[in-house]
Amino acid sequence: MIIAIDGPAASGKGTLAKRIAAHFGLAWLDTGLLYRAVARDVLANGGDLEDVAAAEAAARSVLAVSLSDPSLRGPKAGDAASIVAKFPEVRAALLDYQRAFAAQDDGAVLDGRDIGTIVCPDAHVKIFVTASDEARARRRYLEHQARGEDVAYEDLLVDIRQRDARDRDRAAAPMVAAHDALRLDTTELDPDQAFDAVIELIRSKIGS
Ligand code: CDP
Repeated sequence: MIIAIDGPAASGKGTLAKRIAAHFGLAWLDTGLLYRAVARDVLANGGDLEDVAAAEAAARSVLAVSLSDPSLRGPKAGDAASIVAKFPEVRAALLDYQRAFAAQDDGAVLDGRDIGTIVCPDAHVKIFVTASDEARARRRYLEHQARGEDVAYEDLLVDIRQRDARDRDRAAAPMVAAHDALRLDTTELDPDQAFDAVIELIRSKIGS
């Protein structure tokens, strides 16, 4: 069984994907980490995020083992990721890895922006997770606060909107719900409620 979870920044898709994978005993790939790692490697090599050749070279040599790097988690890394993610060459270089991951025997859960549309168009279940801009910025704000980091809510809201626009408006694999995706709006849901709702959606699709 392949489950594709897509949606904008801080919609809750990562947390959901992780819990769904644990629930069904499937492997999980957070594909955003691949783009984050490409941006990290470009910068580490002294390159420019807008340099497509440097980004493609980084994408071709990105190592799965380097995806556990905690520095990939922050908002700067997410923003940098969305710059290299607009290049078709980068996306093409990361495609085989993602498809091979999805093809493992027991199945897998992948989350990102284009899983249901490009990476796994034949996924058994596709979910597009959304939440209002304000709810998503508030979640990011609380995450920062919990880590003792001082950031302004308004700045996070602006960042989220900018990144969404970049992901939505790009020509290559834009962030969009697949025509056969089930939609889940988590604006009013806490993590447990969102998880219950997504399990319900998956059951409605594949039967219990
Ligand atoms: O966790 P969050 O939603 O903030 O971001 P992420 O899933 O780690 O993705 C970071 C960036 O990578 C996104 O803003 C996209 O530009 C890019 N990305 C993509 O283009 N395609 C994917 N399948 C996953 C991420």
